[in-house]
Amino acid sequence: MQAIGTIYGRTTTHDFKFKVENPVKKWDYIIANHPELGPVLSQVLEIEAGQDTTAICTIVGYRNDRGLLRKPRTPLKPGTQIFPANDYYISQIIGIKKEGLYLGFLEGKDNLKAFVDPKKIITKHLAVIAKSGGGKSYTMGVMLEELANYGVPCVIIDPHGEYSTIKYPNTNKDDAKYFKTYGVSPKGFASVVKEFSINTDINRDATQLKLEIPQDPYGIIQAMPFKISAGQTGLIHNTVNTLQESKSKINFQDVIEELNLIESNAKWNIISGLQQLVKTSLFSFSPTPITELVRPNRMSIINFKGSPPELQQIAVKSLLTELFEKRKREEVPPFFMIIEEAHNFCPERGYGEAKSSAIIRTIAAEGRKFGLGLCVISQRPARVDKSVLSQCTSQMAMQVTNPGDLKAISSSFEGITSETEKEIRNLPVGKVLLIGATDYPIFVDIRVRRSQHGGRAKTFDLKKGVSDYTPNKAETIPTTTVQETKKKETTTKSLVKKSAYIIQPKIGPKEIETIEKSKIENISVILRPCMLVNCSHGSNTFDILFDLHNLQMFSLTEKLNAIRMPSNITTLSPIQKKVLEIASSRAQTTTSEIFAQTGMGYSEVAGIVNSLARMNLLTVSGNKIQSNTSILTNFKKISFPERPKYMDEPDAEKLPAKVKDSQITNFLTAFGIKINSKKKCYLPFFKVKTNDGEKTLDSLTYNLKI
Ligand SMILES: Nc1ncnc2c1ncn2[C@@H]1O[C@H](COP(=O)(O)OP(=O)(O)O)[C@@H](O)[C@H]1O
Ligand SMILES: [Mg+2]
Repeated sequence: MQAIGTIYGRTTTHDFKFKVENPVKKWDYIIANHPELGPVLSQVLEIEAGQDTTAICTIVGYRNDRGLLRKPRTPLKPGTQIFPANDYYISQIIGIKKEGLYLGFLEGKDNLKAFVDPKKIITKHLAVIAKSGGGKSYTMGVMLEELANYGVPCVIIDPHGEYSTIKYPNTNKDDAKYFKTYGVSPKGFASVVKEFSINTDINRDATQLKLEIPQDPYGIIQAMPFKISAGQTGLIHNTVNTLQESKSKINFQDVIEELNLIESNAKWNIISGLQQLVKTSLFSFSPTPITELVRPNRMSIINFKGSPPELQQIAVKSLLTELFEKRKREEVPPFFMIIEEAHNFCPERGYGEAKSSAIIRTIAAEGRKFGLGLCVISQRPARVDKSVLSQCTSQMAMQVTNPGDLKAISSSFEGITSETEKEIRNLPVGKVLLIGATDYPIFVDIRVRRSQHGGRAKTFDLKKGVSDYTPNKAETIPTTTVQETKKKETTTKSLVKKSAYIIQPKIGPKEIETIEKSKIENISVILRPCMLVNCSHGSNTFDILFDLHNLQMFSLTEKLNAIRMPSNITTLSPIQKKVLEIASSRAQTTTSEIFAQTGMGYSEVAGIVNSLARMNLLTVSGNKIQSNTSILTNFKKISFPERPKYMDEPDAEKLPAKVKDSQITNFLTAFGIKINSKKKCYLPFFKVKTNDGEKTLDSLTYNLKI
């Protein structure tokens, strides 16, 4: 076999470099001979091209006498030759099985199928993490198809009704091109799928999900679709206790009638809550048999489309509590519980409360002991309860760019290094970093789906929640704007719809309906002109979203924020700019340093420093000079993670651009920031008119008011 390179320079027990002599690619697996241990497997992490091409590698390890994966305790020697690793050897060392769940190919190896042991997935909890559109639901679909082959019972909490399409074979033309490559054929899974829903008016194919009517005051309080006061809690206790004396089984109607007899103003809210529950038909004396939900060769989809979040949380709480109890008593077989949009069902402290949090936390901590595997899926790991996330010892990560979410990933999961973080930030759609299912983390090129993917073609539609994807007449929101918009739409139908780059909203009118406490009269869209600029500073590359209506930047941490920029900065003289550039390129400087750097006269420098200090751009204390625009050197904080998508323009008011491109260019160059590329786009805001007044909030976090 021909060597592909030779190790040189410093080596450690974790990593080494080699000079590339024959073609090699990032993520290739390679073999080097260790003086005492024999062949050791390593992986190419990065390649640096220059006069010589260098490959930077990390050591995967070798199998010891007991067959365990180990890393050498002494480094590889410089001068050692590097060879490509063959597929058999790679599978042996990494622990890739010959059969199991077929998820796709090992990245870069389109003849090495990545099989995963189903037991490993179900007996460890799994977290599936990626930004919106990163491929979570698609990948989960592949996983479910494979689990179905093994007959593993699965229950899926599906808030958007994305999963029911698994019943049908994949007919997507783009996907069809890859069936042969991945060696799969289209197949629908209707024979194993059973769909349940609270709202069967919208989800016509689904069976009504029915849960046991709680018989004790605590259960009824927990089922209430809103938070109730201490006084109301007392009232429920009294009423239910009184009813229990005369009735063996209580339904909500009984409680309403009993409350009607009581003279108290606190009762009205409770009655209204109970009436809402009666209307949903979620609770019943003849609940869905649990063995209908969990049994071998059964994939139960709990489709919550069209139900308010509070009701979804109540349903999840009741359902999971019962499933866990039944599993503990072995009344149902071991099963896999999948929770999509987990941040809504077990939010991290500070991101709201959910009635389902406690039971999910319990299952995360104890489920494994009883053969209940949990899978949490989220686009906002930072907003998922950390105690739940950290119990997930297997992870599937796709692209994540939000700094807060990256932090949540590295703090919740073991073995995520800064290198891994960098890889996660740059993963293309279809590539997954799989941790915990094999003995060493692998990158998997996820196979094409056999069944139809439901999350496709999300559009920005004023009439619907952002996460919905199929038009459905029953779902329009009953506000006057919607009626008006509809009218407008019919009159302009003959016109060609205009498209533009738009930052896709994360919140839509449907979500606003649940956030807003007051009655919504009208929702309309405002498009704010922006420019997304890809910049470099030193070795950092990042994107800044500039507001072209007002000169400011948007930063997206947990919330969307506007960072005002000193407007005078673009009118600075070249000399002033030069001085500011020097000051902002380091933590601190002095007049003499600037004097030495610029070659200007000392008093001239002092004069310019003073003028910049007067404009509030510099702070001078003693002989120390500091730039006040340090926010610009915090690239992590200002880097904007979302990308605009080319889509139909909604009916919206467009704000005019008042800032010129040159103002932004001048601004950035004043800080020594290089512009790589620019893209004009719109950031949507929602103008919401309620009976309490009118406000305009952003469509990403519903936080920034304009
Ligand atoms: N492995 C894959 N192969 C082909 N297309 C994919 C793959 N993963 C994702 N996609 C595409 O990306 C889109 C978004 O993926 P999806 O799973 O719906 O994202 P998420 O659930 O993370 O928001 C899908 O509609 C599909 O077109
Ligand atoms: Mg999804």
